[in-house]
Amino acid sequence: MEDDVTNRSVVERARAVIPGGAQTGLRAQAYDLGEVAFSGARDATLETVEGETFTDYHLAFGPIVLGHGHPEVDAAARETIAEGVLYGAATTPLEVEVAERLVDLIPSAEQVNFCNSGTEATYHAIRLARAYTGNDRVIKFEGCYHGWHDYVDVSVYPPRERVGQRYPESAGMLPEAVKHTEVLPFNDPEAFEEAFEEFDDVAAVICEPIPHSVGCLLPETRFLETLREVTAGNDVPLIFDEVITGFRHSTRGVQHEFGVTPDLTCLAKAMGNGYPVAAVCGREDLMAQASGDNTSGVVISGTYSGHPVGLAAARETLRVLSEEPVVEEISALGERYRAGLADLLADRGIEGRVVGYGSVFSPQFGVTEEPRRYEDVLGLDEGAFSEFARGMRERGHFFTPNPYKRQHISWAHGERELEGYLADADAALGSISVN
Ligand SMILES: Cc1ncc(COP(=O)(O)O)c(C=O)c1O
Repeated sequence: MEDDVTNRSVVERARAVIPGGAQTGLRAQAYDLGEVAFSGARDATLETVEGETFTDYHLAFGPIVLGHGHPEVDAAARETIAEGVLYGAATTPLEVEVAERLVDLIPSAEQVNFCNSGTEATYHAIRLARAYTGNDRVIKFEGCYHGWHDYVDVSVYPPRERVGQRYPESAGMLPEAVKHTEVLPFNDPEAFEEAFEEFDDVAAVICEPIPHSVGCLLPETRFLETLREVTAGNDVPLIFDEVITGFRHSTRGVQHEFGVTPDLTCLAKAMGNGYPVAAVCGREDLMAQASGDNTSGVVISGTYSGHPVGLAAARETLRVLSEEPVVEEISALGERYRAGLADLLADRGIEGRVVGYGSVFSPQFGVTEEPRRYEDVLGLDEGAFSEFARGMRERGHFFTPNPYKRQHISWAHGERELEGYLADADAALGSISVN
């Protein structure tokens, strides 16, 4: 690009050749607060093509757990490239090592298959479960996001009038696929038990143990325990989607914290500190269905699956997460962001709440009760959030203006970032109006 490149010039060129001017619709929402294009990310800071810097609370939707450009993770990726970029046959010592690490860390992991995105991981998990049960019906919960494929991109953000129904999130989804996806309310053990009384053809139950695509719904213990008991009693695989929670909230997955072990687990995001790496792991008999020669049994495939660059990043990220008190420190800091924001809302008499868990937080305006299920997120004041995001962006803090998403903290965030955030949040809150 030429030297006098500006945010506007890059975005204008993007709009001509990339639909919406960004790789995804959610990324394009950043433009709601003004055109912006990035060219650098280091520690807790993002830099635009014009050299403006922001403290980053978006963290690429969460993968950046150690901070942008962690030197040891990046060095591991570079060293791996120097040896060879892609083999695509047999196995490698690196993939064995990372698989062994996951088996050590994640309670449900007896065997592991790598892929490159959370969406692939949930797809593979559902295919394994369908093959095991011989059934078609998948149960998911309202407000949970499991990636964009047709089996699961249903009822993540249904409008109020579509709550309780199957709501395909995209045009172009196959009705046949959506028809087999049953949607139930989160945190409702009775509804779950009733569904199992009604249906004897369930293939899989997939759940985010903490639904983070709606800020944060905290699971009730009885809900998670009921999922486990009922699925075990019916020999139906329970899939935990720990794409966000795994490694960000616990190096052993929140399944370890919550004491509920699923049959299959999907991992991605924080596992590689920003490099494309993901995994489906779980019970040996379920995973072993994919051990054939791709002519029978379950086909799991992918030219780039187990890519050495992602795996080298994962090996190093998991090492740092295991040896250093990363999760404890970012979670403690997260608690202080939440408490600080809650105090500011109270001091200014602003109707709202601060949701979150560990290193994840989000202020939600116009709603006050602690949310238990998806409906409790409906009715939040989107305009007020947008005004808050604008005020924070003007003061040097970056997160997307989507009120249903979340802000993240990395190990590169510290006291300075916390103090700066709360001081600027106080000022930004001073000019919002909540309906
Ligand atoms: C809980 C959860 N599962 C799955 C996915 C899909 O992962 P990916 O975007 O890597 O395909 C996401 C992405 O945000 C997620 O938050």
